[in-house]
Amino acid sequence: MSHDLSRDGAAGPQQTTSLVTQIGVEAAFATDSSKASVNGSLLDDGLVPAPFHQNFGNVFLDRQAAIESNARTYPRRIPLAIKSARGMRVTDVEGREYIDCLAGAGALALGHNHPVVVEAIRNALSEEIPFQTLDLPTPFKDRFIRDLFDSLPDRFAKNYKIQFCGPSGADAVEAALKLVKTASGRRGIVAFHGAYHGMTHGALSVSGESVPKLALAGLSAEVQFLPYPSAYRCPFGVGGVEGADLGARYIETVLDDPNSGVLLPAGMILEVVQGEGGVNPAPDDWLRKVRSITKRRGIPLIVDEVQTGLGRTGRLYAFEHAAITPDVLVLSKAIGGGLPLSVVIYHQDLDEWKPGAHAGTFRGNQLAFAAGAVTIRHVRECRLERRAFERGRLLQSMLEGGAAELRSIGDVRGRGLLIGAEIVDKDAVGTAGEPPPPSPKLARDIQRECLRRGLIVELGGRSGSVVRFLPPLIVDEADIDAIADRFLDAARSAEAVL
Ligand SMILES: Cc1ncc(COP(=O)(O)O)c(C=O)c1O
Repeated sequence: MSHDLSRDGAAGPQQTTSLVTQIGVEAAFATDSSKASVNGSLLDDGLVPAPFHQNFGNVFLDRQAAIESNARTYPRRIPLAIKSARGMRVTDVEGREYIDCLAGAGALALGHNHPVVVEAIRNALSEEIPFQTLDLPTPFKDRFIRDLFDSLPDRFAKNYKIQFCGPSGADAVEAALKLVKTASGRRGIVAFHGAYHGMTHGALSVSGESVPKLALAGLSAEVQFLPYPSAYRCPFGVGGVEGADLGARYIETVLDDPNSGVLLPAGMILEVVQGEGGVNPAPDDWLRKVRSITKRRGIPLIVDEVQTGLGRTGRLYAFEHAAITPDVLVLSKAIGGGLPLSVVIYHQDLDEWKPGAHAGTFRGNQLAFAAGAVTIRHVRECRLERRAFERGRLLQSMLEGGAAELRSIGDVRGRGLLIGAEIVDKDAVGTAGEPPPPSPKLARDIQRECLRRGLIVELGGRSGSVVRFLPPLIVDEADIDAIADRFLDAARSAEAVL
């Protein structure tokens, strides 16, 4: 397979929005092949000629570097200034087109500018809605709540409450931590190695990554981190079912041993698939055990589905794979249809908050309610979670096939359209029975080579050694083909210059 940019084409003409539900998702994003050439002629191998793909730089990036904080993240590894975007494709200011496997870090379940989302926003604007309403009720908010609860298993609508938080996932994590502390009257939180819950003080306290914590005094000290299962790099060195069972047993020991040094916590927080932590899916059986361990001890279980929620893993919500019910569910990203919105949904027994216990100005974003509600309905109507499952399986098997002939791809794993390829140093002499050490440098090289081939991927995991694939749920088979093709070609090329 060669990377054929002409097949991907440029964004097609605007579709008539009302047709979308009739013609389906694939047709809604049909491209116009007459615009196949991107910024001039293509090379034989389909790449846009140098210097574009060698230099990656422009005045916007220069100005950004001069004025924006040193904390800026993505432009360091994805040095693009994006001008427009549609579906799976983004176009930068120089007219180069990319397949977007980052999709706003998973926020764009329907891709960029999906017609149903654009139509919902336009309609809302035409009604002269107030942009912000704090936490006052409005028809848009009411509709959003109904659509969100309709997407959850029935028991949620009967027994759970919703709290709207500030716009980001981290805001909702903060709210969840405050909620369980208030309800239980206890202080500590149990979290997991490799976890990512956001960058605010409380959320960072329960996240695994150490480097961002180095400069910060005063993070919550009452967090106990426990091992998260990993088949590839098992914390107990055994892997498989046995490794996960040992992990569950260890949790029980820590909680029950009066001399473990750990007080009964206010809550436990986890991701069903750790995304930023390197795409680590928890085995269903481990999750069921954790659910039962926490339930028996009266520890509220917070499931953070900021990244996995709304179809990404092949079920509408990732906890459904293991058929568990969290006490607290944290949602953001996809549920806002690409606009900022976050919520905590929790069992009514936990509702010990006093009025105003968790307030905030930006909890009433009406456009986000409109975009989110239509996104939830569209995902459900088109069964996009199933598509995520199928297309994810296809991509994973193509990557695994390629990994068999490439030395540097140590492991391919994931669930649905949350997929990671761990890049390793296959030549390093590792400990017997252990996988080769991760190779963050090669991962960065591969990411850059992907970009040269018109593919945006992100890195995650320990030291950034996992190439992450987070395409929108609308991805079609031709896209999957192109993603695998460009990635494997990039890996081959990066390996060749080792
Ligand atoms: C699981 C999880 N929780 C929380 C967050 C934080 O969300 P935000 O970046 O919107 O604060 C993220 C972000 O990627 C996430 O993946």
